[in-house]
Amino acid sequence: MPTVWVVGSINEDVVAQAPRAPGPGETVLGTSIKYGCGGKGANQAVAAARAGAHTILVSATGDDDAGSRQRAALDATGVDTTGITISDQPTGTAVITVDDEGENSIVVIPGANATITGTAVEVALTAVKADDVVLAQGEIPRRAIEAAAVAARRAGASFALNLAPVIPLELAQLSVDVLIVNEHEASLLVRRDQTIEDRATTLRSLAHAVVVTMGARGALVASSAGLTHLPAIAAQRVVDTTGAGDAFCGALAARFAKDRDILAAANWGLAAGALAVAAHGAQGADTSAPAIENALAAASAH
Ligand code: RIB
Repeated sequence: MPTVWVVGSINEDVVAQAPRAPGPGETVLGTSIKYGCGGKGANQAVAAARAGAHTILVSATGDDDAGSRQRAALDATGVDTTGITISDQPTGTAVITVDDEGENSIVVIPGANATITGTAVEVALTAVKADDVVLAQGEIPRRAIEAAAVAARRAGASFALNLAPVIPLELAQLSVDVLIVNEHEASLLVRRDQTIEDRATTLRSLAHAVVVTMGARGALVASSAGLTHLPAIAAQRVVDTTGAGDAFCGALAARFAKDRDILAAANWGLAAGALAVAAHGAQGADTSAPAIENALAAASAH
């Protein structure tokens, strides 16, 4: 059984629910505050594990209560946490506002995530096998991402990169098999005045396959088979979009690990994303393989 190795961040999410996010200089009265599990790495690892993949998370937390809570929650979802080191910095924190439309805005204080070194990633990934998928995001230091790419290439495994947020990287040198970005991130990577379809095609010079997520409009997949538009899977309701992109990436990686079918994998991602927005919190939804299959079956019956 292939393993999905997620190299990425762990955060404690501090979530303020408010009618809308405040503008500059503005104070808005909110309705609730909640502490939850988050970090793009942790969210994607949880999604991959729930979607049925054997999943190992390589990350770091502080030696603090938040770190203990996050590691315990990951253990409870079946993510292998032996690749998480304990740092002398506090556990990462994300301060999130979720508005009445379910839209989020996020400030991340990296803390321990900023201490993940290339050497630590290299050591943690020595057991990667050719069948495996290594998945990283932009919320950890550049050297850690580069080490993940090198370890994947050395093992003959697939390297998937969710460049969220966009950070400076020599993408062309990383041998990225699957690059996953949203429309905003795609526009930062390809600054020329192009359609989103042209941007996805342009980005293929940097990765074997490119997946651009487009929210309610689904996703574009640029691969050796050409450019494919996958329609969105309709969400039953939208209460919180936080972590929807992470559910997409984790489910995609789990499905991609099975047979490297990028279109099937992206469809799994779309289904997981639709399930994710219907629940509160970055890891609050049931994005298990049966739930994904049900969502896909319901969508194809329409
Ligand atoms: O992608 C959502 C995540 O971004 C949140 O869980 C938060 O921790 C930030 O990392």
